[in-house]
Amino acid sequence: MYNPTRVHFGKGVVAGLGNTVSGYGRQVLLVYGKGSIKANGIYDQVMGQLQAVGSVVHEYSGIKSNPLVEDVDLAAELGREKGVDVIVAVGGGSVIDSAKVISITIPADHGAWEFMEGRRKPRAAVPLISVLTLAATGTEMNKFAVIQDTANHRKLGYGHDLIYPRHSFLDPAYTLSVNAGYTAYGIADLMAHAMELWFGEGDAPLSDRFILAIMQEALEAGPLLMKELGNYELRARIMYAATSALNGFTAYGKAKGDWGVHSFGHVLSVMYDVPHGASLSIVYPAWLKLMQERIPERVGALMKGLFGTDDSSEGIARLEAFLLELGCPVRLADHYAGDWDKEAVVAVMERNASNGAVHKLSAEDYRLLVDLYFS
Ligand code: NZQ
Ligand code: ZN
Repeated sequence: MYNPTRVHFGKGVVAGLGNTVSGYGRQVLLVYGKGSIKANGIYDQVMGQLQAVGSVVHEYSGIKSNPLVEDVDLAAELGREKGVDVIVAVGGGSVIDSAKVISITIPADHGAWEFMEGRRKPRAAVPLISVLTLAATGTEMNKFAVIQDTANHRKLGYGHDLIYPRHSFLDPAYTLSVNAGYTAYGIADLMAHAMELWFGEGDAPLSDRFILAIMQEALEAGPLLMKELGNYELRARIMYAATSALNGFTAYGKAKGDWGVHSFGHVLSVMYDVPHGASLSIVYPAWLKLMQERIPERVGALMKGLFGTDDSSEGIARLEAFLLELGCPVRLADHYAGDWDKEAVVAVMERNASNGAVHKLSAEDYRLLVDLYFS
């Protein structure tokens, strides 16, 4: 077990940001997204903290949802040129993931994609401090980053001990301004993370119980939050659940998680710019339907644990109904009304076949899966 991230959780925790950052040096690379932090006042609070301790701040903004490797390389160039001592990432998963890869690219003599494809190993990282503004990915307390190379239809996950944030500041009040869509996608994402570990390799009954507890928390608090987006307590419950779903806690005792559904979701993100959580709410019910006869005990135990039913089909239908109640799409057509191309989706899935799946699927299975979620 290893997790070096110190998490500061609760209302007002960002009051400690300045002193924490100044412990790493004066030159700060501030990374953020397309501007939500300026609209909701978080930018001013973070800048106030940095100015109070005399930080020299270099900004890289405009990180897009489903973040691009081009931005990672440009931000790393800026960080290298300015000789930054520390990176402060303020945003959701896209911003924090970008900052993680920026942190190892600054000291390197090559581009970020070399890491993503595993051709080069990082030797050092600029310390990273995150301020989370969206509950979903768990990136604030893990060693993973997911980056996209759109031109080549690749969206890849990467993991390394060097990219754990040193500190993460989690104020649930910072998530109050997240709109209904991304709030719902975040809940779908945390449910998916729990399930990826549930369907992973290896028996770990206590970790399974943690997984069920996290999912039950989301089943209970999620719909309540969707009815009351301004409720701090519900935001806090979902934020803690999201962090717990992918910080290693559910993985102990297992050899690995099954990241197949995530990689199939990434295909939809890279081809049709589907938000990450929405890609999972589309693919997961289809995957469960495909797998319920192949791994009936595992699917059955999950449905029994979540919904108390012995009928897997009924359990999957209830999970789908939950996702719909949140406002998540469960078919590609629900999200994307354009010209999608089934065979092109299957072709990209086949190209990404070495995708972290424990339960390997054949090309024919890909077609069955895509048929189940297309429309
Ligand atoms: O661009 P900004 O202005 O920041 O707006 C964002 C973006 O439009 C907005 N937002 C964030 N905080 C807000 C807010 N709007 C209002 N108020 C706030 N407080 O929300 C939109 C989505 O942000 P994004 O960061 O893209 O969402 P999320 O946190 O879901 O991150 C998704 C990315 O994380 C990756 C995904 O693949 C995807 O690229 N993942 C990372 C993982 C990891 N590192 O462990 C695991 C996950 O499975 C996932 O793959
Ligand atoms: Zn995810």
